[in-house]
Amino acid sequence: MTRHFLRDDDLTPDEQAQVLALAAQMKAEPFAHRPLAGPRGVAVLFDKNSTRTRFSFDVGIAQLGGHAVVVDTSSTQMGRDETLADTARVLSRFVDAIVWRTFGQERLDELAQFSSVPVVNALSDSFHPCQVLADLQTIIEHKGTAAGLTMTYLGDGANNMAHSLMLGGVTAGMHVRVSGPAGFTPDPDVVAASTERAALTGGSATVITDPVDAVRGADVLVTDTWVSMGQEDDGKDRSAPFRPYQINDELLAQAAPGAIVLHCLPAHRGDEITDSVMDGPASVVFDEAENRLHAQKALVAWLLAHQDGPS
Ligand code: CP
Ligand code: NVA
Repeated sequence: MTRHFLRDDDLTPDEQAQVLALAAQMKAEPFAHRPLAGPRGVAVLFDKNSTRTRFSFDVGIAQLGGHAVVVDTSSTQMGRDETLADTARVLSRFVDAIVWRTFGQERLDELAQFSSVPVVNALSDSFHPCQVLADLQTIIEHKGTAAGLTMTYLGDGANNMAHSLMLGGVTAGMHVRVSGPAGFTPDPDVVAASTERAALTGGSATVITDPVDAVRGADVLVTDTWVSMGQEDDGKDRSAPFRPYQINDELLAQAAPGAIVLHCLPAHRGDEITDSVMDGPASVVFDEAENRLHAQKALVAWLLAHQDGPS
């Protein structure tokens, strides 16, 4: 069976811990691990814009001894409707892994179904699991552990980051609270999957409407844009209802002493987060961005070491 990483629960709690331990090793010795020596190829495909994901995969695969082919899919035959099944079959002959940023999660599922090499979700409308591996690495660096800590996500509770923080956070044994305005709450299926996962790890997944209640006593605060890629013209008011969920100094003061603040970036300063918090002592956002590199190197190396051959 080919192992893919399409959503956060594709790694068991134990496997996630292995990847995070490897990520710490990769960070300590960035040039000591070369599982892609050859170089072996990795396809890194984008249907949406990217800065961090693009650079971190490109540089990370080079550091692993491999060669990344980084392309916007609009310039490939994918942009002219070659089927995902045929694309997967062809790319599997050239590369050892496929990394893809796209829209619907079902597109990743379809590509993975026909791929004989691991497929990695580099962000979909539903999940951003690579980001959450980097977030967990950052939390562990700053807090010593993730298990048992309370993490509150504020903003669009229905977006990819909310879902991945919930599912990835409980996998690490965290107590995850998601807080957003009415109509912007997590997919019930993701809450159910998170609750199921939390039963294995001692974590918990909760939706709390009031932002102050949600933040009270939290060890980690996280936010994200109120307008994700592809939602620019969805006709919803993505400003006024979100204002109470802004991470500012007043809201941060309700969190536990020493709480840290994460944001996957890009940030919309003055909307979901103020300059004062983003540039203040609680912010770890640039460590978080750097950890994309280390966490993804670890993920790719781990996936390649845990394939049982073509499915
Ligand atoms: N956080 C993140 O995925 O950033 P990019 O969109 O720049 O890749
Ligand atoms: N939720 C954001 C994350 C960007 C990295 C988006 O999908 O645009």
